[in-house]
Amino acid sequence: VTVYLVGAGPGDPGLITVKGLELVRTCEVLVYDRLIAAELVDEAPRGAMRIARDHLDQAAIDELLVRLGCRGLRVVRLKGGDPFVFGRGGEEALALARAGVAFEIVPGVSSISAVPASAGIPITHRGVSSQVTVVAGHDPDALDLDALAACPGTLVVFMGLKALPELVQGLLAAGRAPDTPAAVISRGSTPAAETVVADLAAIADAARSLAAPALVVVGDVVALSSVLGGNVESTSIEYAAAI
Ligand SMILES: C[S@@+](CC[C@H](N)C(=O)[O-])C[C@H]1O[C@@H](n2cnc3c(N)ncnc32)[C@H](O)[C@@H]1O
Repeated sequence: VTVYLVGAGPGDPGLITVKGLELVRTCEVLVYDRLIAAELVDEAPRGAMRIARDHLDQAAIDELLVRLGCRGLRVVRLKGGDPFVFGRGGEEALALARAGVAFEIVPGVSSISAVPASAGIPITHRGVSSQVTVVAGHDPDALDLDALAACPGTLVVFMGLKALPELVQGLLAAGRAPDTPAAVISRGSTPAAETVVADLAAIADAARSLAAPALVVVGDVVALSSVLGGNVESTSIEYAAAI
């Protein structure tokens, strides 16, 4: 194997896997995303080439990985969360496969459950939610909002901060109850983490000042944050009231 697509976890550098960290520590080239913790980039060997992908589009990244892989270099492509959860890791793997470059996927801790967990929100909970629906929220018009509003259980929205007012409006118009508990967790698992909890009808307003990356969680499990979430700021939801 020459190219490893490695999940770095949601932000806390301690949440990379043992295998992922070992690969970072022994790589010759590290290609990493903007949100990767500096501590993890620093784990690469002193002489390793470090390439921040900031200004490269996806096609350029694919091409870079193929080029480095063809040279037989030990390459670690370090990606936020898990490479195969809204991470475009599949596209990079396909480019490598098509070019005949050996690669391995090293999963990571995805923000899908780790970020809600960091705010005291289990995305499933016996008797409360036994179903999780996960969507990308950057373009609410592209979503089946009727289906999402009717879906029982927990809704987890990636990339949903910017268009949150439209998303919420769409869910309410499609019949989701306005008092459904909702949360927005910004920069979860990092020292800059901030969480806001409110009714669905009020969540977009409550989360206005939060910074990306942020994850949106909608559903009764959010109410557990009032007991499990430490310092989570809650506008009105009480655990006892919602569960
Ligand atoms: C391009 S996706 C990458 C997801 C990643 N592959 C994963 O498995 O977590 C980026 C989105 O993930 C979510 N996200 C990633 N890290 C986060 C964090 N530390 N706190 C809150 N949301 C996060 C946000 O919704 C962000 O817009």
